[in-house]
Amino acid sequence: MWGFCLVLILACATGEYSEVQVVQEMDNFLENPHYLKNHEIGELFTQLAKDYPDLAQTYTIGKSLEDRPIYALALSAPTGESKNGDLLRPMVKLVANIRGDETVGRQMVLYMAEYLATHYDGDTEVQDLLNRTEIHFLPTCNPDGFAKAQVSH
Ligand SMILES: *[C@@H]1O[C@H](CO)[C@@H](O)[C@H](O)[C@H]1NC(C)=O
Repeated sequence: MWGFCLVLILACATGEYSEVQVVQEMDNFLENPHYLKNHEIGELFTQLAKDYPDLAQTYTIGKSLEDRPIYALALSAPTGESKNGDLLRPMVKLVANIRGDETVGRQMVLYMAEYLATHYDGDTEVQDLLNRTEIHFLPTCNPDGFAKAQVSH
């Protein structure tokens, strides 16, 4: 009987704990976690570029065979020197969802892009990273495959 109660209490405690975690992690699109459709990626990147004009720029690298735009986001903080003159700043590109049904990496890249943009103010580790690096995020280079995977799986 006591064992049973203890298990119940533990279960409740764990439930509360994970609920607190979820609340802390709630950040923009994580409030309603779901796989973003291609046009939603474009909307998210446009919003980030609008909200953080000093940090974020969005662009497309062209269109897929089925005419879906392939969205990218670049993140980098301006330093004292002109950004164009900062030729020694390392550039990194994160690419995901090369195969259409490999979708977790797509969300990881999206979440990381959003996390870094939204945490630059007030997080010195994020500042340090974006002060010294230019990071390009390409969450999907196969939007057609992703759309097909949604239908068939
Ligand atoms: C990043 O750069 C900004 C602007 O130059 C500066 O104010 C800030 O202290 C830097 N942050 C870190 C952690 O180096």
